[in-house]
Amino acid sequence: MSNSDDTIFIDPNTELQSRGTIKETSSETPAVNREKSDDPIPKCMIKTILVTGGAGFIGSYVADALLTRGDKVVIIDEMNDYYSVKLKRMNLNFLREKHKEMLVVYEGDICEKGLVTNIFEKEKITHVCHLAARAGVRPSIVDPFVYVHSNIEGTTRLLDCAREFNCVNFVYASSSSVYGSSPKSVLTEEDAVDKPVSPYAATKKSCELLAYTFHHLYALPTTGLRFFTVYGPRGRPDMAPFKFIDRISTEQPIQQYGDGTTSRDYTYITDIVCGVVNAIDRPLGCEVINLGNGRPYELKKFISLVERCLGKKAIIEVLPQQPGDVEHTCASIDKARALLGYDPKVTFEEGILRTTDWYLQASKDGLFGDVAYAAADTNSNTGLKRTLSDLELSSLVTKSSKRLTKRGSRFSEE
Ligand SMILES: NC(=O)c1ccc[n+]([C@@H]2O[C@H](COP(=O)([O-])OP(=O)(O)OC[C@H]3O[C@@H](n4cnc5c(N)ncnc54)[C@H](O)[C@@H]3O)[C@@H](O)[C@H]2O)c1
Repeated sequence: MSNSDDTIFIDPNTELQSRGTIKETSSETPAVNREKSDDPIPKCMIKTILVTGGAGFIGSYVADALLTRGDKVVIIDEMNDYYSVKLKRMNLNFLREKHKEMLVVYEGDICEKGLVTNIFEKEKITHVCHLAARAGVRPSIVDPFVYVHSNIEGTTRLLDCAREFNCVNFVYASSSSVYGSSPKSVLTEEDAVDKPVSPYAATKKSCELLAYTFHHLYALPTTGLRFFTVYGPRGRPDMAPFKFIDRISTEQPIQQYGDGTTSRDYTYITDIVCGVVNAIDRPLGCEVINLGNGRPYELKKFISLVERCLGKKAIIEVLPQQPGDVEHTCASIDKARALLGYDPKVTFEEGILRTTDWYLQASKDGLFGDVAYAAADTNSNTGLKRTLSDLELSSLVTKSSKRLTKRGSRFSEE
């Protein structure tokens, strides 16, 4: 079914595309009965938003925000075991308990044509927020094919359905990793990003190209969001913020590359969610926009911040700086401010404090008793489960990474 005959109401002030089916309103009755009269979003018709990867870290937060303001959310997630499926199930249970009838969940692969087409048709999807992907840089070196499948084929399938079903807007996750080995310390959207240094980055860049093509051919509004290292409670166990907290808390060594004066831009999850939700509400034509914090944080300060939050000293293994590592990275967020009204609020100090608080509580509740969640193999930085085959895999990844870094590549963990 195409929704070309349906009238879709979107936010006042939203820039409209010439797609013929969209009408602005500020006075229509919302399509869904609301239980409370003081509901905060009465002005626009409810959107039906497909959130791919909604069981994952960022997806579950975005779904929560959309449901909380009254949108209908349809999640598709294949629940793969890149990290513990238990965590993904917890995310879904949290959403189900909190939101009930406005949430629909499909478990499956975004590449499956029949399944995805049926979802668009049955659920009458008006907006797509495409966050499903194989994330993680180093594992993509070991198995680029699974990345090409989920990230490139999956994105193409969704773009094609969004086109067929005349969706109002298509927002998708890109990554700061597309900037590759850029020597610049402030990364702007105009920078050349044609030299990806990992299969993961290449797939993310490919998504941006495909989004452009679908906009060019079919006037489908697409916005790609280049996330800069997202962290927070329920964060991905393969990434540095979780790993540092986990390892310092459990008195295991952490690796510090170089003298600790390198710095990175870390973005707190709730700030990212604001950027994503604003992007969903604003079809912009065809854009790619950085979502970072714009305030990079030094590695050694990061470690001592975690120490202070946990009240524990880190056991630090100082290793030589990796060849090709960029010393300082920072997102330019001027474009996000201008186009999305994006305004990150959570300082790194506050964000890490909230994350350690969550970690300590979750730890008390026994979440990390499950080895599969704690996931990250200690030395490889791959974020894979501690099973024999994965350990073998991670040693492969480490070797591949070393080879590549010798050639001057830069990795981030996204
Ligand atoms: N977390 C970060 O710092 C960061 C940085 C840059 C970009 N990103 C991007 O943001 C998005 C969300 O990242 P995240 O950190 O929440 O990762 P995540 O791994 O927690 O979530 C991704 C979800 O997608 C699902 N998925 C993967 N392939 C799928 C497929 N073929 N079909 C259906 N579901 C599939 C996974 O099961 C997972 O639940 C990803 O696209 C990622 O590449 C994240």
